Amino acid sequence: MAETQTFDERPDPERRKLLVRATGAVGGAALAAASYPFLVSLAPSERAKSAGAPVEVDTARLAPGQLRTLEWRGKPIWVLRRTPEMLAGLKTAESMLSDPGSEVTSQQPEYARNRGRSINEGVFVTVALCTHLGCIPSYYREPDSIQPGWPGGFYCPCHGSKFDLAGRVYKGSPAPTNLVIPPHRYEGSTRLVVGIDASGEA
Ligand code: FES
Repeated sequence: MAETQTFDERPDPERRKLLVRATGAVGGAALAAASYPFLVSLAPSERAKSAGAPVEVDTARLAPGQLRTLEWRGKPIWVLRRTPEMLAGLKTAESMLSDPGSEVTSQQPEYARNRGRSINEGVFVTVALCTHLGCIPSYYREPDSIQPGWPGGFYCPCHGSKFDLAGRVYKGSPAPTNLVIPPHRYEGSTRLVVGIDASGEA
């Protein structure tokens, strides 16, 4: 006679508990596996973190009159080492400027609200984007190179906006305001950090 396999149909409380625990464990593992990429995607990547991180430059390595371009938060940042002649030119340009006193306070931090729009008058730091439509202006350091009496500055070829060597806009330019000064600070006499100021504000 063939053997028959019998099944006990009676409810077995211990077996049921085991099944419930096993199902819960598998479900939890599946949920964790499904969630992992989502949790990882929420965490900022190293690349994203470094893209927003402050950038540093040693200003002692800039020659007088040299303009260096950095990148911070996807924007070009200029660092210009101004010469004594350039600093003198900031004063002579003022009658031609729209906002020589930096009255539009959104364009610079309070510590850069002075004639040179800088912490250290020998070093100018600015976002190198025209305040008209965002083109990158060009650096024309030679006197009279753009117009008679030009003391040196920045010229935007897109629609002709002009800025002095403190990023202050000339009257009659389509750009409405001075160039933007980013937060910055010094750590030591020549170590410039762009992207954070002395109070830690970015
Ligand atoms: S974008 Fe510079 S003048 Fe228009």
